[in-house]
Amino acid sequence: MEADTLEDEFQKTSIFKDESKLSVFYVPENLPHREGELHQFLNIFKPVVDSPGAISRIVLITGPVGTGKTAVTKRAGVLLCEAAKRKGVNLKYIHINCRREKTNFLILLQLARSIIPSIPNRGYSPAELLNIIVKSISEQDVSIIMVLDEIDYVINTIGEEIIYDLTRINDEKLNSKQPLSIILVSKNDNIQLMLDESIISLISPLKIKFHPYTSLQLESILEARVKEAFYQSTISHGVISLIADIASEWGDARYALELLWRAGKYAEEEGVFKIFPEHVRKARADTCPEISKELILSLDRNDKLILLAITRSLARSGMAYAQIGLIEKIYHLICEEYREKPRSHTQIWERVRVLSRIGVIKTRISGRGLRGKSTIIGVEDIPAKILEKELTEWLKNE
Ligand SMILES: Nc1ncnc2c1ncn2[C@@H]1O[C@H](COP(=O)(O)OP(=O)(O)OP(=O)(O)O)[C@@H](O)[C@H]1O
Ligand SMILES: [Mg+2]
Repeated sequence: MEADTLEDEFQKTSIFKDESKLSVFYVPENLPHREGELHQFLNIFKPVVDSPGAISRIVLITGPVGTGKTAVTKRAGVLLCEAAKRKGVNLKYIHINCRREKTNFLILLQLARSIIPSIPNRGYSPAELLNIIVKSISEQDVSIIMVLDEIDYVINTIGEEIIYDLTRINDEKLNSKQPLSIILVSKNDNIQLMLDESIISLISPLKIKFHPYTSLQLESILEARVKEAFYQSTISHGVISLIADIASEWGDARYALELLWRAGKYAEEEGVFKIFPEHVRKARADTCPEISKELILSLDRNDKLILLAITRSLARSGMAYAQIGLIEKIYHLICEEYREKPRSHTQIWERVRVLSRIGVIKTRISGRGLRGKSTIIGVEDIPAKILEKELTEWLKNE
């Protein structure tokens, strides 16, 4: 037996050697089956590192949920910064999640903070921040690669103007210097149809498209992660294949990793030191692939309460859609339950519209069969009961 295996045996109180290796925030050094995309990235940005300030890039990354867009982009960022450091080039990589930084101001503040860490949180307008950014970039002679991840949210909520404003940092104001490169990341292949001509003309032809993973690809991604996260011999090849097979329906690595983590948790709860297919099946029944946990966690408390009202109405009725009137009634009961002040009718409406725009819920105008016309709401592809359970847990822990 190898020394570390022996050590493993002694320390075993759980099947997890390092659970954090399955977290959504962990980016492994090796990203199997994305070597090609990573190379494409590095090639596109090589001139930015070689001739800093002389050239900038605007790149579009698209691909469905869990196909490695964020992971590959972050990994490329690390490699590019290392290369820049070796060459003595002042390069900064900044990754902004547009779902979290929901306004122009917050996006600009993140960018400003990467250049001037001590900048105060308030007191500036977006236009002032932009000026400060332009001035500091010039003074510090820094090049920036800025990722606007989940850009769909920006376009669906605050509009694309921010992209345009950012591209103007590369204006003649800086003696035709080109210090800012932008990477737009989107789940939507047709994102270009939603963008203004002036932005599209800057992007093209630099696009990288990510495709869903096959079952075999997911298998090797899982194998690599299993080695980092679990003790040896706690999971068989057959179990890994089973998870890969389930997740291959969507080609979603995040879903595969979540199934793996949950199956591990169920085994741990039972006090066994091996993951069995039964744990995977249980994990599958309790996990929804289509909607990301991060997305729901990022909603504020009131939005979570509205969503809870929707899922509760759906879970109780077993129907695909519920009427807004009923949802509002349940929302008021929920607010009492959680001791929160309910929002007004108009505010609820506004939030429902936002939740629909960002894809958490689906709204439809009811057709025949229901009295008059009214808006009905559903959560497509997500079992409402699962979502209701998760929301209740999160709200409890908040
Ligand atoms: N090739 C890979 N090798 C190892 N892990 C991977 C790979 N691709 C994705 N992952 C992991 O799967 C999870 C999802 O990947 P990622 O967040 O990059 O997906 P995404 O395409 O950005 O999805 P979304 O559109 O939902 O944001 C992450 O935990 C990531 O580390
Ligand atoms: Mg992502």
